[in-house]
Amino acid sequence: MAAVNPVQRRVPLIAGNWKMNLDHLQSIAFVQKLAWTLKDASHDFSAVEVAVFPPFTDLRSVQTLVAADKLPLAFGGQDVSEHESGAYTGEIAAAFLAALECRYVIIGHSERRTLHGETDEQVAGKVAAALAHGVAPIICVGETADDLEKHGASAVPVAQLRTALSRVDSAADIVVAYEPVWAIGSGQAATPEQAEQVAAALRGVVAEVLGEEVAAKTRILYGGSVKSGNIAGFMREPNVDGALVGGASLDVAEFAAIVRYQKHVGL
Ligand code: PGA
Repeated sequence: MAAVNPVQRRVPLIAGNWKMNLDHLQSIAFVQKLAWTLKDASHDFSAVEVAVFPPFTDLRSVQTLVAADKLPLAFGGQDVSEHESGAYTGEIAAAFLAALECRYVIIGHSERRTLHGETDEQVAGKVAAALAHGVAPIICVGETADDLEKHGASAVPVAQLRTALSRVDSAADIVVAYEPVWAIGSGQAATPEQAEQVAAALRGVVAEVLGEEVAAKTRILYGGSVKSGNIAGFMREPNVDGALVGGASLDVAEFAAIVRYQKHVGL
């Protein structure tokens, strides 16, 4: 088989995880401003895809705005239920996200795992539910500081991903986000070399479970204290295909600068 350059085949994705910030009115103002800022800067959305992940209560407002103004922005939920429907108070079905035209959904974020006790098996169920409704899961994996010390960087994320993919079929449209727990919201990002090492290992898991072809087109994001000042270093790595951005995604100028990393670093 002819060698393909995987870097050229994958469109980078910059995803903003708003967490529990911005209500539906604020979300409209934010998305409008983001769209204007990127348009003013002539951002090429086919070269770097942009997605925002507002709270559930904002999604309808964001969807309406994106559709009305034909904005080239993707959006999605921050979580999804593993169940189809029924007596699951407070949960949101994948079908509901699909009905709101969510292209993506974040699954297994470390805050869900630690604050809500989400297990790898539940993550696998959520991934299967999202895929069943045509919503691409952004599967989050990452090691704690303790895991890092005891097992090195790759062991825990690799095991988490293997379980998360256990119910996925071979044609799946998935995104993986490597987010070391110690780097999230800490201001202490991993080094590009650390991110590359784990991203390469995670691509190996995708290849093992879903085959080389899926692995070659699957985007692997880095997340954890990403800013406009450090994004370029991550994006130079061959296995890092974008970023999942928390805190810095709440500032329009900063998030737009991250999206436009190719310009301000001359990549
Ligand atoms: P951070 O969060 O960018 O604020 O570190 C990343 C995330 O939790 O996805």
